[in-house]
Amino acid sequence: MVSFLVLAWLGQVNVTMNQKNGLWEITLLRPRDIPLVMPIERATFSDPWPEKGYRRHLQAPTSYYLALWHCTEGQRDLIGYGGGMIYPPEAHLANIAIEKNWRGDGLGSLLLLSFLLGVSRRGATQVVYLDVRQANLTAQDVYSRWHFTPIGVRHRYYRDGEDAIVMARYHLVLADLQAELAGQWSYVLRQTSAAAE
Ligand SMILES: CC(C)(COP(=O)(O)OP(=O)(O)OC[C@H]1O[C@@H](n2cnc3c(N)ncnc32)[C@H](O)[C@@H]1OP(=O)(O)O)[C@@H](O)C(=O)NCCC(=O)NCCS
Repeated sequence: MVSFLVLAWLGQVNVTMNQKNGLWEITLLRPRDIPLVMPIERATFSDPWPEKGYRRHLQAPTSYYLALWHCTEGQRDLIGYGGGMIYPPEAHLANIAIEKNWRGDGLGSLLLLSFLLGVSRRGATQVVYLDVRQANLTAQDVYSRWHFTPIGVRHRYYRDGEDAIVMARYHLVLADLQAELAGQWSYVLRQTSAAAE
């Protein structure tokens, strides 16, 4: 049986879930976490952002980035991160990644929903945009699951000439997002505790 504890502090998306095979934590991504982001970033993207790009992004007052941690006795590993910019009533998701050994258990969705909840609490209630590579059907499927729809194409948007699909989720309702996020925590805990048995 999974037991869990939720701590939500002062409107921050700062959540801890306790599970028999470890503890999950979602925090704001801080500049001191960037060295842990870089190995995942380089292993994940063909055109990784440089460390200084992340530092610049995190310093911007409009920036909102989250980190997903897995903690076991004596160890705390960054296993995912994601975020972007808030321009109320809009936000833009610039980047999201889950370390490859942890994909497929609902964690990417968890981070995405945490981002949506966080930005909507900060005023981005009208629309959240994102760009995704045309060939990245895995990410597009995850975004579609959470009510993003394709609204356009940016031709040759990426350095290698690939097009970007622009996707948007409109009308972010706090209560809907809270329910989606609570459901997703349950999904993740079921998936990851089954895997540990
Ligand atoms: C895109 C990415 C972040 C998704 O992370 P993830 O942890 O694998 O995502 P999820 O586990 O939430 O979703 C993946 C699968 O779980 C399923 N899933 C997630 N939540 C679910 C739920 N509540 N109920 C049922 N299925 C669920 C999804 O439908 C999906 O299934 P599918 O592979 O059969 O389509 C990850 O693949 C990644 O890091 N990719 C490389 C970086 C990248 O492409 N980033 C996006 C740039 S725009």
